[in-house]
Amino acid sequence: MASHTPVRRPVVGGNWKMNTDGRGAVALAAEIVDRCAQKCPQTDIAIFPPFCYLEQVGQVIQGSGIKLGAQDVYPGENGAFTGEISTSMLKDVGVSCVLVGHSERRHILNEPEELIHEKLIAVFEAGLQGVLCVGETADQRQYGQTETINRDQLVLGMAGIPQQQLEPLVIAYEPVWAIGTGKTATPDDAQAVHELLRSTLASAYDKEAAAKVPIQYGGSVNSENAAALFSQPDIDGGLVGGASLRSDSFSNIVDAAALSCRETSSESSFQTP
Ligand code: PGA
Repeated sequence: MASHTPVRRPVVGGNWKMNTDGRGAVALAAEIVDRCAQKCPQTDIAIFPPFCYLEQVGQVIQGSGIKLGAQDVYPGENGAFTGEISTSMLKDVGVSCVLVGHSERRHILNEPEELIHEKLIAVFEAGLQGVLCVGETADQRQYGQTETINRDQLVLGMAGIPQQQLEPLVIAYEPVWAIGTGKTATPDDAQAVHELLRSTLASAYDKEAAAKVPIQYGGSVNSENAAALFSQPDIDGGLVGGASLRSDSFSNIVDAAALSCRETSSESSFQTP
């Protein structure tokens, strides 16, 4: 089984999407703290509740080492942007990392590349961790466009962003056809795209910088398939949707990530504000 380079720690995110209610979010966060907090030294763990529960969940996970994440952000600072949330508002409630360009925002809400790029810049300027999500649709894979789509989404998202900004960057490769469908990319297929993304970063920046960027896999990750995916040399943990809504499956996935990278450094990937 291939082993990871010693510079990267695995990163596991729980993307709750538009799920839970206030009471359920607090209960789930408390269970995740119970089951996962002691695993933070081996794995960077973040949870991404709906905006309206960020503050409550933040209070529950405070001091646990688990990071509070937001599912989205708007690049403007403040002003007439009805319904939107800025980086400073997120920081105000304790958020330290933000998903940018999730496929549900790209495809259901038609978010264009330019806006995704602006969001990523705003996140970095605010000193937050940015998780840039990329991934091809089923049709794009079928028509042989997997490489082009993933490379383009990464290059357009990162365009003009200087090398110093690579440090708070996490990439999530999430094939759209695998999200919420129960279909998972095979470890080999996922590894091929992760390798492509890393070499794209190496061409845009340099090899050493690219080797430090955690690249998560997302798309129907669960307790059963996590270990095989995370054992691939360029897969550094996962971004988990459905299976993050139960603390037992989320905890098992965190265990699989920790095991896959046992001998990695103790440097944190997700940052606290
Ligand atoms: P899923 O979602 O694990 O339910 O497929 C992953 C994601 O969208 O981040």
